[in-house]
Amino acid sequence: MDVLIKNICCIGAGYVGGPTMAVIADKCSDIEVNVVDINEERIKLWNSPNLNDLPIYEPGLSQIIERCRGRNLNFSTDVQNKIASADMIFISVNTPTKKKGLGAGQASDLKWVESSTRQVAKHAKGNTIVVEKSTLPVKTAKVIQNILESVQNSVEGNETTFQVLSNPEFLSEGNAINDLEFPDRVLIGGESENAINALSNIYKRWVPDEKIIHTNIWSSELSKLTSNAFLAQRISSINSISSLCEKTGAEINEVAKAIGTDSRIGGKFLSAGPGFGGSCFKKDILNLVYIYEYYGLHDAADYWNSVLKINDWQKKRISNYVIDKLNGTVSGKKITILGFSFKADTNDTRESPAIDICLDLLEEGALLAIHDPKVNQNQIKSEFEERNFNENQNWSYNPNIIENIKESHAILILTEWKEYQSLDWQDIEKLMIKPSWVFDTRLITDHNQIKKTNINFWRVGEITNKETHSFS
Ligand code: UDX
Ligand code: ADP
Repeated sequence: MDVLIKNICCIGAGYVGGPTMAVIADKCSDIEVNVVDINEERIKLWNSPNLNDLPIYEPGLSQIIERCRGRNLNFSTDVQNKIASADMIFISVNTPTKKKGLGAGQASDLKWVESSTRQVAKHAKGNTIVVEKSTLPVKTAKVIQNILESVQNSVEGNETTFQVLSNPEFLSEGNAINDLEFPDRVLIGGESENAINALSNIYKRWVPDEKIIHTNIWSSELSKLTSNAFLAQRISSINSISSLCEKTGAEINEVAKAIGTDSRIGGKFLSAGPGFGGSCFKKDILNLVYIYEYYGLHDAADYWNSVLKINDWQKKRISNYVIDKLNGTVSGKKITILGFSFKADTNDTRESPAIDICLDLLEEGALLAIHDPKVNQNQIKSEFEERNFNENQNWSYNPNIIENIKESHAILILTEWKEYQSLDWQDIEKLMIKPSWVFDTRLITDHNQIKKTNINFWRVGEITNKETHSFS
């Protein structure tokens, strides 16, 4: 008989847990969904009456929160009691790359997974299905299972039983609600048929049956890493081609369109840019590399490592190019940075290419005027400080784009925000110091408009207006 889920607890109210639970609560009004977190400030923001204060910006999210919060969706720090009343528990805690110890710089730090699993082991009651949602290295389900079983066995007369499932998220930030409502697939890995059915039945409320894939638990975990590694590999591939376009006169958008029409390649995820960011790609490839190394598969490890190397190279070549075009020195020069989030429609700055590129310019003495429609000054500051850059007097933040641009030598576009697509270049030219430069790493500017001005401009994957190609 199918297990009927009436009460869900999600541990971790972050970018994954928050939107995922909001959509489950929205689609299943008969299920009580409790999202818990140890971070009181975050929970306070999730409960904020002003929906603009939610801790995560995601198009469509605030409308769902408005509909469901207080109905069957609750946010709290009451981890213990919400675990105790749940039939199904999602683990959606952070799993960043380890900073020290064994596997530092490569393996995921599982301390938050472990501590939340211990809380589950201690407080859960009755038959409980535990779902790993965070991106985790292969075989983590075993770690979760072992902790649950050992704590469980150590308490005499304990009647709690656990089934562990892997149900990786495939959310692309900025599009998370759409990805949840209309997923390409839902992947559920596990052994217990009852548990798999219980979770499938939740998704079946809005996802067609054929899109719900069942695999063994290890295939599910590995598919998540592989999926992100393949996506990241596409970006490194197109970025490496962009450099060749700049030398030869080919245009990266034309090349992307031409290859994308081959149905075996497909047209998505072929936009050249400043390099990929976000919390997943780098972390997941590092994890994959770590696992290959562990099994002695060094050549395959090198292969995937090269995807990361090209990503770093792309960022570096952009900052070097800017410095080169500003006569080899940016010292004391004001440069306007448009965009700090790792992509548009999110306030997330984790691994944003803007961090490394800005730091390169700051190290060279540039004065940066940074703008982003959703990222605030404190977040930028903490990203710089985390990289040990504390000279905060050398950069400024202003929510007004035009104020930032005044007296700049150059504008560097790093995120493809809509606001930057319709700038009036003729007006902007009057505000800038001459010779002025615009560097567009996202191919969002209207170059026909810029051509009408005396602004020098460069767009990734295209030859600049002042250069001609030559094969000699
Ligand atoms: C990714 C995966 O897409 C998602 O399935 C997974 O579960 C989590 O990781 P996310 O990191 O939110 O999602 O963003 P994504 O849209 O994949 O973009 C990642 C990075 O690649 C961004 O910095 C983006 O700007 C860059 N990118 C993406 C490109 O440079 N070019 C492209 O064509 C696509
Ligand atoms: P992701 O992008 O994977 O969602 P985030 O860092 O945005 O990652 O969110 C993870 C959340 O998990 C954080 O808000 C963190 O406070 C929370 N968390 C970590 N460990 C625990 C725990 N043991 N109990 C409850 N919440 C936790």
